[in-house]
Amino acid sequence: MSPSSLLLLTLTLTAVFAQLPVTQIYHNPHPGTWLENLAVRPNGQILATRLDVPELYQVTPDPHNPNPTLIYAFPSALGTLGIAELPATPDVYAVLVGNFSLATISSRPGSYSIWRVDMRPSRPIVSKIADIPSAVFPNGMVSLSAAENALLVSDSTLGNVWRFDLTTHAYEVVIDDPFMKKVSPSVGEGVNGIRLHGEYLYFINSFGPFLARVPIYPNGTANSKGHVVAYAPDGEGSFDDFAIDEDGTAYVATGVGNVITKVTEEGVASVIAGNLNSSQIASPTSVAFGRTERDRWTIYVTTGGGLEAPINGTAVVGAQLVVVKLV
Ligand SMILES: *[C@@H]1O[C@H](CO)[C@@H](O)[C@H](O)[C@H]1NC(C)=O
Ligand SMILES: *[C@@H]1O[C@H](CO)[C@@H](O)[C@H](O)[C@H]1NC(C)=O
Ligand SMILES: *[C@@H]1O[C@H](CO)[C@@H](O)[C@H](O)[C@H]1NC(C)=O
Ligand SMILES: *[C@@H]1O[C@H](CO)[C@@H](O)[C@H](O)[C@H]1NC(C)=O
Repeated sequence: MSPSSLLLLTLTLTAVFAQLPVTQIYHNPHPGTWLENLAVRPNGQILATRLDVPELYQVTPDPHNPNPTLIYAFPSALGTLGIAELPATPDVYAVLVGNFSLATISSRPGSYSIWRVDMRPSRPIVSKIADIPSAVFPNGMVSLSAAENALLVSDSTLGNVWRFDLTTHAYEVVIDDPFMKKVSPSVGEGVNGIRLHGEYLYFINSFGPFLARVPIYPNGTANSKGHVVAYAPDGEGSFDDFAIDEDGTAYVATGVGNVITKVTEEGVASVIAGNLNSSQIASPTSVAFGRTERDRWTIYVTTGGGLEAPINGTAVVGAQLVVVKLV
């Protein structure tokens, strides 16, 4: 190999492994606050759910003026989890609400419901869609097609995926894959984040920790067995929710590691942002792409502020919304 090609190789590797800069958009000053999941609106604003209180916030993706705004405080619940834009109605969202206790790290079976948040009017309209009493720990949520008019919901305790039909309100298990089960009885979660890509449902097993996928019919039912796409890089703790691009590249919130892991469609996993010993991305919980021309190649990340595993064993900083530019 000539010196010049060696130099080129070195430069290429540096480019591949360089950590991307992280910019904080919003930071809650109170340790103990936890942003759990997010949805980006068509206008670019970000909706974020809180797990430590039953509240939904809107944040402007502008570090100089994030203007965090309470959209709604849900009654009779401890927190909010997954959020998904409804399949047939742009800028209207389904939100999972119920009793996951951060104090005891436990989920109360039978306490959950799915709510509808209509962001189209200047004053959002919020209403309950249905209780889902058979859910034990509903966590991630995605929309199927407009024709199906249904949601898929991961249940982290049962290790399966439910389908909620928005027309009939029927709630039934449609995927029950071995890779969705808890990897050991001592861990708190099996399947966590779920996203659709092509004919697959991609999913996280929190403490595998791995990203896997299972082929599904358009109605959400599994049509075959699941397979692992990639395990977390060595020592990177746990996986949470993620975003997946058109080419099948996933960006995974890597909770205990305080990093974002990129997983290519071929299953190559690498850390692209954050650091175990840094509070830049303190206990990331979920990831979403920007939706406007300006921020299409950007990921937004919610965090639990280090609550999941305090940085250096002691630092808990409060919930964050951060942005990472991919290009
Ligand atoms: C959920 O928590 C709220 C707030 O503490 C409480 O009012 C409600 O009764 C709980 N629901 C269940 C089913 O435990
Ligand atoms: C989904 O579609 C498949 C294939 O057509 C069918 O076998 C299955 O029963 C359907 N499931 C539901 C819940 O409608
Ligand atoms: C954690 O410890 C490292 C090494 O001592 C230090 O550089 C870093 O600032 C610490 N992080 C926090 C969030 O305190
Ligand atoms: C974090 O800090 C610990 C203790 O100082 C050190 O052993 C470890 O290599 C650091 N990890 C990273 C990813 O910097």
